[in-house]
Amino acid sequence: RKTIASLYADATELGGQTVAVAGWVRSIRDMKNFGFVTLNDGSCFKDLQVVVNRENLGDAVYDDVIAQSVGAALSFEGVLELTPDRPQPFELQAKSYVVEGASAPDYPMQKKRQTREFLRTQQHLRSRTNLFRAVFRVRSVAAFAIHQFFQERGFVYVNTPIITASDAEGAGEMFRVTTLDLDNLPKTKDGHVDYSQDFFGKPTNLTVSGQLQAENFALSFGDVYTFGPTFRAENSNTRRHAAEFWMVEPELAFCDLEGDMECAEDMLKYAINYVMDKCPDEMEFFNKFVDKGLIERLQHVASSDFARVTYTEAVKILEEAQAAGKEFEYPVSWGCDLQTEHERFLTEEHFKRPTFVTDYPAAIKAFYMRLNDDGKTVAAADCLVPGIGEIIGGSQREERLDVLQARIKELGMDPEQYKYYLDLRRYGGCKHAGFGLGFERLVMYLTGVDNIRDVLPHPRTVGNADF
Ligand code: 4AD
Ligand code: MG
Repeated sequence: RKTIASLYADATELGGQTVAVAGWVRSIRDMKNFGFVTLNDGSCFKDLQVVVNRENLGDAVYDDVIAQSVGAALSFEGVLELTPDRPQPFELQAKSYVVEGASAPDYPMQKKRQTREFLRTQQHLRSRTNLFRAVFRVRSVAAFAIHQFFQERGFVYVNTPIITASDAEGAGEMFRVTTLDLDNLPKTKDGHVDYSQDFFGKPTNLTVSGQLQAENFALSFGDVYTFGPTFRAENSNTRRHAAEFWMVEPELAFCDLEGDMECAEDMLKYAINYVMDKCPDEMEFFNKFVDKGLIERLQHVASSDFARVTYTEAVKILEEAQAAGKEFEYPVSWGCDLQTEHERFLTEEHFKRPTFVTDYPAAIKAFYMRLNDDGKTVAAADCLVPGIGEIIGGSQREERLDVLQARIKELGMDPEQYKYYLDLRRYGGCKHAGFGLGFERLVMYLTGVDNIRDVLPHPRTVGNADF
């Protein structure tokens, strides 16, 4: 049996030969004495047109094929006929066919256009539509691009734990993991929950980031990266937040913020080029039906420098825009966290390209970021892109034990919980930096699809954890 992808790849050699294929029916057209079955097997974006002929197959078989429903799994054997004068380069003249699995007539993925909202209720079938087939292939190829980018540069891939006792971001947005009976929690003498009876003997959570453990490895391998699922119990019902998402987190030893940004910019450009090279049909589809101008925009991004601005300068730009009449839902002033609307203004209307915002106020960033000499800002760099806002969050890490200890104390965090992290600063804890790329946000950026629910195979968002 051949895949449809291999038919397209080897059409010249296979022309005139008998081949077998199997796939799912996208449409069936009956012209009485002959008919067309459009088949897709997922191996590539393109379909295969199968020609069924009443005379060749006989009445019984012909009528049986034509009576199949969209969505059925069928296999065919036939002659691959090259058709250089038609839009498609070849078709299969069927000699025989087998119903591998029939499809009920109420198959929800009919040929007509369906809303994304409806398709989200069909997570088990939506990957058979053009849109989702394209999205999930790009997702797969982009993941490979990320691995290849880091592997080519000698980074070691490290798997960090999913269950953890520490809050890497210190934001308290974690999903609790427990084996305790929630209806009958064991209590200590003073009335608190007795976590010593829990599975790990202490409270644990699903990880919000693999960074802290990646740092351990960076200080023994030099350059490392993680690429794994992360979980956030953020109660934000937006088109760019999910409760379960994948994050790419490189960590580089002997590296400062400048080197960190260079790595991030190179990685994004590499992923763009790689996907455009490997997924031309999918990208053409997005360019035509999802986001007009996408390809040209990405090509431009891949071949020009990202903008850079400090938080302080960015706030000035936003304040000036405000003074000139731009209305933000959240007014801007120095010290405020940048909201999506601010990020999008900076990258879409002001700089009109991907933009690094650096040196944020310490008060709005995580405890591990390196304090700048001004004593108020930290060596952080967020990368903002048009259409999405923040796609990457990164920083140079605080390598000075005393400064880090003071910060942990200032924030009222428990130093005991971070003892390994602090320890690392005592034994050759060098300058180092890293960042986190939200992988779904990258897929959104690459495809022009504007909702994170449509780039996750099985999205988990507030109130949604089906299937
Ligand atoms: O900015 P964040 O919170 O940074 C970290 O977690 C650091 N530990 C990364 C590091 O330095 N190693 O998250 C990084 C990125 C964001 O820029 C965003 O793209 C994505 O992760 N992200 C989310 N994506 C989808 N849904 C959510 N709820 C997300 N939260 C963050
Ligand atoms: Mg962030």
